[in-house]
Amino acid sequence: MRTAESVAIDERRLLRRLDELAQRGALPGGGLYRALYTPSHVAATELVSDWLKEGGLLVRRDAVGNIWGRIEGSRGGRAIVTGSHIDTVRGGGALDGALGVVAAVEAVTSLVSQLGRPNRILEAVAICEEEGSRFATNFWGARAIADRIEPDEASRVRDADGITLADAMRGVGLDPSTIAQAVRRDIDTFVELHIEQGPILEEDGPRLGVVRTIVGTAHLEVVVRGQPDHAGATAMDRRRDALLGAAAMTLAIAEAAREMGPPAVATVGTISVEPAQLNVVPGVARFTVDARHSDNARRVELIAEITKVCKVAGRERELGVEVRTLRDRPSVQLNERATDVARRACVACGVEPREMTSGAGHDAQVLSAAAHVAMIFVPSIGGRSHCPEEATAAEDVILGTRALTAALRELAYS
Ligand code: GLV
Ligand code: MN
Ligand code: MN
Repeated sequence: MRTAESVAIDERRLLRRLDELAQRGALPGGGLYRALYTPSHVAATELVSDWLKEGGLLVRRDAVGNIWGRIEGSRGGRAIVTGSHIDTVRGGGALDGALGVVAAVEAVTSLVSQLGRPNRILEAVAICEEEGSRFATNFWGARAIADRIEPDEASRVRDADGITLADAMRGVGLDPSTIAQAVRRDIDTFVELHIEQGPILEEDGPRLGVVRTIVGTAHLEVVVRGQPDHAGATAMDRRRDALLGAAAMTLAIAEAAREMGPPAVATVGTISVEPAQLNVVPGVARFTVDARHSDNARRVELIAEITKVCKVAGRERELGVEVRTLRDRPSVQLNERATDVARRACVACGVEPREMTSGAGHDAQVLSAAAHVAMIFVPSIGGRSHCPEEATAAEDVILGTRALTAALRELAYS
């Protein structure tokens, strides 16, 4: 057996595999889209399965389609797990989730090939869905692991074409009646490597971060009801235009977040109108709001303020307004002991990491209900993410993967 310090990752293989994975779901105009249970998603999971098998791990697909590669530990006990999500947003980049998956495969297979059987069970996982990439829900894979799926969810939740999650599961050979079999109660520690998705590490350094807090996120749906009318024959002062109301609300929502101050953020990311006709004043407008704050009480205040400004803007224009909470996930503190391991691993790689709050949501926040969880961040070039330009310097991808490998070595081999 080689000494722990000598564990090396295969840097070229790591970078090559990131490129290979980015071809699954690549869009003709740039960026990618790997939506849950679609052909590109299946192709990505098959690729990861092949890598895990090549690395000598026992590979299985669980009841919701998370891909696990495992090696038993000589002492048994609870498992040490690393990974991230394999789905992407529409028009997303090559690293959000993918880095944590490819680095997990690289770290685990390098450790096993160089140090042999670990003391603890060691697993790499590609989590099937985190982004809300297709269905009107999110964190599907991690919630299945953490036993957070609602009983009727698979048959209730639909994609934009009206296909239920349950039918989409059947389409890729999964049985929705077995979802509960994905639950894991035997994970000790989960470590996730991820790109920062913001500008802090790139602008202020250092090249590695550890996450203390993950932001809380609420998703709201606002329905604005006015009156459809003729676009030519209805004078401007006689209209009850739902879209104009929604536009005023969008500005007021952004202002509410700005007024609360950082780290409050609010985003109107989707909007649709009815009847959606070029020559008809919109009678109904529907839009979504993504509202975030790392302080749970402040997030609740932000939601209340957003609701208030929408109602006020509606009243001023004689429009009906309904605000509905689609989901509201609180902010999460990651585990101190696991984070200390991650910090030591970064230091062993020559970097005292910055302690950070993540403005993005992560599988780690859901899994923290079921395990001790830590996250390592690497810089994002220009702070860009959820866009085709998302990128991280190769040397930072390598550095982050080395830190992940060192953390897993301490957790699984010492
Ligand atoms: C996922 O990336 C999110 O933060 O919404
Ligand atoms: Mn994302
Ligand atoms: Mn992600």
